This record gives sequence, C-alpha cells and structure tokens, in this order.
Amino acid sequence: MSPRDRMRIVQGDITRLAVDAIVNAANTTLLGGGGVDGAIHRAAGPGLLEDCRALGGCPTGEARITGGHGLPAKWVIHTVGPVWKGGGHGERDQLASCYRSSLTLAARHAIATIAFPAISTGAYGFPIEDACRIALGEVERSLAALPAIHDVSFVCFDASTLDCYAMAWARGGDG
Ligand code: APR
Repeated sequence: MSPRDRMRIVQGDITRLAVDAIVNAANTTLLGGGGVDGAIHRAAGPGLLEDCRALGGCPTGEARITGGHGLPAKWVIHTVGPVWKGGGHGERDQLASCYRSSLTLAARHAIATIAFPAISTGAYGFPIEDACRIALGEVERSLAALPAIHDVSFVCFDASTLDCYAMAWARGGDG
C-alpha cells in the first residue's frame, strides 16, 4: 500500500487507542508534564515514570521507547518536540525529526500500528498549520522506506486540530 493509504486522521484521546504504540509529546527530562504527556502518564500508571527515569532524558528531535504499562497500547514512544521560537532556530527540522525518529524506532521494534498526537502544537506553541504539514509530509516520506508499518494515526484532541490536518491532507502533506 502507498504511504498515504497507511495514514489516517482521527479525533480522540490517544490514551484510549489499542494500537501497538502511541507517541508521547514529552520534554527532555521524560519525567512527565501536562497536556498529552500528563494524560499518558496518568493512564499508564507509575510504572511508566519508573521506566522513563531509567532512560535519563531525551534530546529534542529524538525518540525513546518504553512499555505501555496500564495503557491499551503495548508501547509508548516518547519524543521531544521543539519549543517554537519564531521559526529561525531549526524548529521545523526538529519537528520533522520527531516523526522520523519515532517511526524508525517503531520499525526496530516490529511496531505495525502507531498513533501520533499533534507534537509541539500545545504548550510548545508551534503554529498548527505548519506542524500538520510537516507531520503529514515527514510521515509520508518515512513510510516509503518502512513497509512494515501499516497504520499511522494522527490523533487530534480537538476539532480545530482535526480541521488543520484535513486541510493539510487535502493540500497533499508538504503542499
Ligand atoms: N490525546 C491526544 N492529544 C492530546 C491529548 C490526548 N489525551 N491531550 C492533549 N493532546 C494534544 C493537545 O491538544 C495538542 O494538540 O496534544 C497536542 C500537543 O500538546 P501538548 O501536550 O501541550 O504538547 P507540546 O505542545 O508538544 O508540549 C510539550 O508540554 O506537557 C508538557 O511535558 C510536556 O514539556 C512538555 C510540553
């Protein structure tokens, strides 16, 4: 199947998805926070934080993996998105790297179904239209080289995020 046939946009709560892996929009400490990070840790239970402590942090743009603990998902891939500083500090490349690194790590763990939140578009202030375009474009490019990943969901927590993804999708990812 073509990469875009393996991608879908959904609205919902990522902590409820029974996929192989959900992706967490974490911070460099990996010790939890608010937003989707807080929701994932609450739903997974304290064992997730113990696993994360052992990882010793994660640089922006990279990804780390833990078990899913109390979540329906088997794995959690923690990635650290860029804080938006106006666009002149490599933020776009760092955000693309989050999606690429997460999918590369997923393939190494034989993960076939994976769900992403809208990384960096909440507390980190990344403009949502740009973030959706980057997310769709980078995942489409990465999937071309990762045939074993057969379903990627972009999970939108609210309708405005869903609309942005739908418009970016209609324009064709990086369009
Ligand atoms: N399911 C899916 N998406 C969610 C959920 C959820 N349960 N909760 C929040 N979101 C969405 C937000 O609405 C937003 O669209 O996740 C997206 C990312 O927002 P944040 O969680 O604020 O993540 P980010 O902008 O990457 O900021 C990360 O915030 O929580 C802290 O520890 C985290 O320091 C890190 C920073």
